Amino acid sequence: MNRKYRKTIVAGNWKMHKTPAETKAFAERLKSSLPRVKRCSIVLCVPYVDIPAAVKLLKDSRVAVGAQNLHWAPNGAYTGEVSAEMLADLDVKYVIIGHSERRTLFGESDLIVNKKMHAALAAGLRPILCVGEDWDQRQLGVTLELIAYQLKAALAGVSPEDMRRVVIAYEPIWAIGTGNTATPEQAGEVCSAIRGMLRKLYGARIARSTTIQYGGSVNAANIEDLLDQEDVDGGLVGTASLDIAHFIEIIRSANQDGY
Ligand code: 13P
Repeated sequence: MNRKYRKTIVAGNWKMHKTPAETKAFAERLKSSLPRVKRCSIVLCVPYVDIPAAVKLLKDSRVAVGAQNLHWAPNGAYTGEVSAEMLADLDVKYVIIGHSERRTLFGESDLIVNKKMHAALAAGLRPILCVGEDWDQRQLGVTLELIAYQLKAALAGVSPEDMRRVVIAYEPIWAIGTGNTATPEQAGEVCSAIRGMLRKLYGARIARSTTIQYGGSVNAANIEDLLDQEDVDGGLVGTASLDIAHFIEIIRSANQDGY
């Protein structure tokens, strides 16, 4: 990371875990046991139904609440869906877009990811855009080409001004939920390539100030080495964010001085 130019962001992605009652208990503990965090921002991306409890309990704390998905239309006949405006109205600040689970399990195409980016930005939300290769793609040596394509497609039509609100998360699919974290060098290499791609798309200044997270089996034992990489500016944490003590440990590491 490089705090001189960009924000360090640790974000939890609970995926489909925790009820509103469990969210309340977690948020109360998080608020009371959170260390003084000055050097990093914290986000908790919870299931839709947990948003009101999380927002209420984390109000006036240093933890922003995020969603894990949204629909691209402002409203309409989309049974079961939730719009960006609805999230913004609940005081949601961030939204994960293009997570590999959405892409593979729910058929989200690059076009849909792009539409969701525009919807989120138009409603004033900060998108956390996920990109990443699967194991076969890595073996075939097409990781960087694939990510360049995913980025270009997701960011098509996004203005430089809006780009200032976008966070990128590099999440290699083979590292998600497997315990197989990318090595710090692997994470650093791709995150720095992503910054190079952003430089081409938006110029040096925006590329330099964009937060690029790494996600995929991040835990308290590996976060420091990952953040030691110049271009890794935070973590998108799945499993380890479900456990309060573990999540706080990760935040503590990210908040340390001396990177
Ligand atoms: P894990 O931390 O469980 O590997 O999940 C990573 C992830 O997908 C975060 O979005």
